[in-house]
Amino acid sequence: MLDIRPIGIEDYAERHSKPLSALHHKLWMETYSKTREPGMMVGALEATFLKMLVMLTNARRVLEIGMFTGYTTLALAEALPKGGTIVSCEIDPERTEIAKRYFAESPHGSKIEVKLGPASETLKRVWGPFDICFIDADIEKYAAYYEACMDLVRRGGLIILDNMLHGGRVIDARDEVTKQIDELNKRIRTDARVENVLLPVRDGIMLVRKL
Ligand SMILES: C[S@@+](CC[C@H](N)C(=O)[O-])C[C@H]1O[C@@H](n2cnc3c(N)ncnc32)[C@H](O)[C@@H]1O
Repeated sequence: MLDIRPIGIEDYAERHSKPLSALHHKLWMETYSKTREPGMMVGALEATFLKMLVMLTNARRVLEIGMFTGYTTLALAEALPKGGTIVSCEIDPERTEIAKRYFAESPHGSKIEVKLGPASETLKRVWGPFDICFIDADIEKYAAYYEACMDLVRRGGLIILDNMLHGGRVIDARDEVTKQIDELNKRIRTDARVENVLLPVRDGIMLVRKL
């Protein structure tokens, strides 16, 4: 991910937000030492923001597309009430193995159901309604995931899409993937089924509320 954040600002915001759990710190360290793309984790500030959204919407059922080593999954699960559940999709068994070890250590781990395999297949087999769907995998398929989530999320529920600024390249979209993201941003903006706001936090968080 190209870093488009103003220097120092996100660090300051992070230092003045409630910290994540010690388990998150441990997972962060292991992800940096054992995986090749640790930068795929959203980081503490965005994970804390996602937690806040779960709490503000009183969400009980969450769907995540793109678990990686479970950093966001754990944050979302921590914010869910007792009896709440998160279904998380991941295609990579090694990343899943790391995530599952951390879920086993967390008091919130029992809320998490991991679906190993291509998300496009998993999405055919999960049942809505979900209160929140978080899309953070496989950027070329975002448009398809958006439509699938539109069917799975309840009215008044949220679809959250990460990386919708695509390293800032959306301003002057030249490559194919950036053009797709730009197109999806425009499509969401004119989608009569939703309200939306695109936040310039980290790599761009698109919040979409289904009407
Ligand atoms: C950006 S990372 C997710 C990061 C995670 N939300 C976090 O902040 O820690 C995207 C993940 O999606 C997984 N992925 C890619 N294509 C996928 C697919 N078709 N189905 C399911 N998972 C996929 C990748 O293996 C990767 O671990």
